[in-house]
Amino acid sequence: MKKKGIGIVDSGVGGLTVAKEVLRQLPREDIIYFGDTARCPYGPRPYDEVRDFSMQMISYVLTYDIKALMIACNTATAVILPEISSKLDIPVIGVIEPGARSAIRKTKTGKIAVIGTEGTIRSGAYAKALKKLSPSTTVVSLACPTLVPFVESGNLNDPTGYDIVKNALLPLAGEDFDTLILGCTHYPLISHFIQDVVGPRVKLISSAEEAASELSAVLSHRGMLANGGDLVNNHHRFFTSGDRELFNSIARKWLGIPLESQLVDLNRVN
Ligand code: DGL
Repeated sequence: MKKKGIGIVDSGVGGLTVAKEVLRQLPREDIIYFGDTARCPYGPRPYDEVRDFSMQMISYVLTYDIKALMIACNTATAVILPEISSKLDIPVIGVIEPGARSAIRKTKTGKIAVIGTEGTIRSGAYAKALKKLSPSTTVVSLACPTLVPFVESGNLNDPTGYDIVKNALLPLAGEDFDTLILGCTHYPLISHFIQDVVGPRVKLISSAEEAASELSAVLSHRGMLANGGDLVNNHHRFFTSGDRELFNSIARKWLGIPLESQLVDLNRVN
């Protein structure tokens, strides 16, 4: 029987942090990844535009045979998760609740900081999710609009990254927190700079691991996990709406697998 894939969507390369965890935790699954790099960043865009763009990506991924969908973008999760979950009859997993759960498990002081795009922070989705899990949690939130363009440039180890992160996080300087949620899937790609800036005592939380565990639990519960078979027969697909070579180079480095992305113009297919 032909394997069904896991659809993963993001505004760009950030969702690769989720894809990497899915590949690590569920190595027999095939992934179908869409990164809307031509229209990245989504963070500063108005709500309706993020909704429309996200729907277009999802519609494209749904033209493939997928058994689950991961919205590997916090900005899109904050806007469309409830709507899309109610429309589809496959499991749909976002990244905000998994990130919040993981932070609550890790914090010792109950003081948590969240960084994300303007859209995610404006939505208050993390603060709501954290308070729901643990009402006594103190949450401080900060939008960091300069980080996604740096990640999308692909120069992830360029030393200027440290200053960009330091400036972006300046408003958190006087704040007291022991846990920092990377509330944007792009940020784990530069977690080395973020950890340097906040210091070793602050625990960084990426939603990727927890979101992949949730996927694994849901698929296992429904008896939908890919079983057996040879790993070399995995057939992943990567689509980008922007620069293929840049996407390939970031994705190959981050995932550690050979891959060739395909270019898709969402304005034409939808
Ligand atoms: N990676 C995305 C997120 O998790 C969005 C970045 C952007 O497009 O602004 O929010």
